[in-house]
Amino acid sequence: MTDAAIAVRMDGITKLYPRVVANKNASLSVLRGEVHAVVGENGAGKSTLMKILYGLASPDEGTIEVQGHALHHHAPADAIRAGLGMVFQHFVLVGPLTVAENVVLGAEPRRGPLFDRARAQREVREISERFGLPIDPRAKVEDLPVGMQQRVEILKVLFRRAEVLILDEPTAVLTPQETDELVLVMRGLAGQGKSILFISHKLREVMVASDRVTVMRQGRTVRTLETSGTSPGEIAHLMMDRDLAPPVRPAAREPGEAVLEIGNLSALSDRGTAALSGIDLVVRAGEIVGVAGVEGNGQTELVECVAGLRAVSEGTVRIGSRENRQDPAACYAAGLAHIPEDRHERGVILDFSVEDNSILGLQGRFSGRLGLRHREIHRHAEGIIESCDVRPRDPAIRLSQLSGGNQQKVVVGRELARRPRLLVAAHPTRGLDVGASEFVLRRVLVERDRGAGVLFVSAELPELLAISDRIVVLARGRIAGEVDPAEVDEARLGLLMAGHG
Ligand SMILES: Nc1ncnc2c1ncn2[C@@H]1O[C@H](COP(=O)(O)OP(=O)(O)OP(=O)(O)O)[C@@H](O)[C@H]1O
Ligand SMILES: [Mg+2]
Repeated sequence: MTDAAIAVRMDGITKLYPRVVANKNASLSVLRGEVHAVVGENGAGKSTLMKILYGLASPDEGTIEVQGHALHHHAPADAIRAGLGMVFQHFVLVGPLTVAENVVLGAEPRRGPLFDRARAQREVREISERFGLPIDPRAKVEDLPVGMQQRVEILKVLFRRAEVLILDEPTAVLTPQETDELVLVMRGLAGQGKSILFISHKLREVMVASDRVTVMRQGRTVRTLETSGTSPGEIAHLMMDRDLAPPVRPAAREPGEAVLEIGNLSALSDRGTAALSGIDLVVRAGEIVGVAGVEGNGQTELVECVAGLRAVSEGTVRIGSRENRQDPAACYAAGLAHIPEDRHERGVILDFSVEDNSILGLQGRFSGRLGLRHREIHRHAEGIIESCDVRPRDPAIRLSQLSGGNQQKVVVGRELARRPRLLVAAHPTRGLDVGASEFVLRRVLVERDRGAGVLFVSAELPELLAISDRIVVLARGRIAGEVDPAEVDEARLGLLMAGHG
């Protein structure tokens, strides 16, 4: 392989954090014009390796070369100069500005002292056409769906002439349709000679999107494989050193009393438009009701109304016998547990320890006459760490020091530890590796069998089909239908979601 064909070479990278070895003698080479997937369990060191490449973290050992230039003790500005670009999962966009304004932000074309808006729009349109990322440069970013906002992030790095794009779990926030589009975009960019580094937990995507795949385990890069010569089974085996159990299928059971009753519910979106209209839905003890729908069809608002986080404009929501007001604490008191879709916004406090995060919203249960009962809290946190396999196993560690997937496990563990009557789980496996996802689904089934009612929102149709007892389809804020998961497949469910009853 000639050096000219290699876009990125990382060799012998080791990164030590106070309590963990995040990368251990990790090596990676990325060719020009390839989509290179990086996979591994939660905490395997994928994000750390990418942060080191981009100059956001500095390695203790190892060398980095980008397009033939050595990078040493570099900052992101140096990385960008060398041809790297990083697409962040939490977008760094300015909502009220247009697509073109966001793309050129910080590198604006000027005419004299003035911002040259026409040229900015022209250049953005040019790049978007050249690289097959259609978008209206004049649209306001805050009006765009998530997939389009991500496209703006990609345009931003292309505008800065990136030759190597790093995408850390870009599909975690996308709908299946948006994911398909992103895969096409990545393939198109690679076809034009760009190199893509792409982290994902979804092996199906890895199989269709990538040319090669590097598997990481416990900080090491264990193997790089040609995608066409491997299988999801082999990749999972290399990741975990064990095989996956077959998918779960619920045993039918008789549901009990209603734990959630929604009658003729209407609610508004953040923008004041109708988000939900005339929703009638009952969840009973001992059943899992799946909610399917294309993202943005009311799922978020539905969950927020149930969790007391959004005002109900018409109709009623009852948890148990208690009518819901916009009062999350009262909802929890009535027996709710809520795994929120955006854990950073609602689920955790990153600067707090695992222990402190493990009792968020549960402080009452752990306070006595003399203040918080610390020993009990410690045991509670240890229980969550143990039951959800949070790594590293240290209740005192700050949450920001955990990998993304391990942060999610803390939230899941805390909410399940409430022993709820009603569990509302919104995308609970987002960001989790295949093993951890399977574990969470099993735990949701255990809650159901214990007698909890579960409202389960997911964009992953295989997941919905695997554990739901029935599935309602949301389309444009209304319930468009209800199906028996035993009688539909993904294709049929996809059609219902698209509004083709
Ligand atoms: N800022 C930090 N301080 C201390 N430890 C850290 C820090 N960032 C990451 N780590 C640790 O380094 C290890 C690797 O984390 P990393 O985020 O790279 O994993 P990952 O493979 O991206 O996992 P995930 O799939 O969950 O995103 C983990 O054990 C994590 O706890
Ligand atoms: Mg990560």
